[in-house]
Amino acid sequence: MLALSASLHVLLSVTQMVRYAQTAAAPAPEPRIKKFQIYRWDPDTPGDKPRMQTYEIDLNTCGPMVLDALIKIKNEIDPTLTFRRSCREGICGSCAMNINGGNTLACLNKIDTNTSKPIKIYPLPHMYVVKDLVPDMSNFYAQYKSIEPYLKKKDENQEGKQQYFQSVEDRQKLDGLYECILCACCSTSCPSYWWNGDKYLGPAVLMQAYRWMIDSRDEFTEERLSKLQDPFSLYRCHTIMNCTKTCPKGLNPGRAIAEIKKMMATYKEKKEAAL
Ligand code: SF4
Ligand code: SF4
Ligand code: FES
Repeated sequence: MLALSASLHVLLSVTQMVRYAQTAAAPAPEPRIKKFQIYRWDPDTPGDKPRMQTYEIDLNTCGPMVLDALIKIKNEIDPTLTFRRSCREGICGSCAMNINGGNTLACLNKIDTNTSKPIKIYPLPHMYVVKDLVPDMSNFYAQYKSIEPYLKKKDENQEGKQQYFQSVEDRQKLDGLYECILCACCSTSCPSYWWNGDKYLGPAVLMQAYRWMIDSRDEFTEERLSKLQDPFSLYRCHTIMNCTKTCPKGLNPGRAIAEIKKMMATYKEKKEAAL
């Protein structure tokens, strides 16, 4: 028994040695150096002007997504590089930025492994910049707040006293709308929003306005429509559809806006008939 255990031990040691020898003998992989050109601007450094800064990363030691590279740069090369991120799986919406000309989420965007081409990264376009890749979202959030993105009932006394039921069919009408993570990729790819972002609500916010308009439990559809009647809030959308093309969650804000316009036509007819 003792002899068997001893020979097993010898056998295991030999196997381990062979494994170590193989590992040691394996040639180190060729470095795959990828360049990242990143927009930098620090308002706290007097006189600092926006510029592009290039970082080199060995893709052999980096995760597959652009966010992995940004985190690696921040951890290992330049801790001053500033960007937002939280969930790293396309849920929080905070890592939205412009990568190689398209608005998207850095955590869902795979690094192009062709090392002959750099990756260019800018903050979301046509937004004020807080620092580096961090856009100022204040106007976007104020616009979101303005559409009252929550269930509204006429009789507030009943609030919290009963459940508001919804049929399976009515619930399904919200699919493709409620999944929006408010990353603002769509709004900041919309030319109408670029030029009139202070008055035009933009695709992300309008899609959420629509989401509450068609919620069978909400009782403020007409009031919600009435708030969008001016020439800017809704009607600056010219159906260019950049918004739908860019959405990293595969949603269709352009269609939601078209649906609001249809509802608005009916609403106006009804109002005129009542006069
Ligand atoms: S469809 Fe409307 S909201 Fe979407 S990009 Fe075009 S103009 Fe902007
Ligand atoms: S519709 Fe898409 S792109 Fe626009 S805010 Fe929502 S998730 Fe982002
Ligand atoms: S880190 Fe949350 S969506 Fe990218």
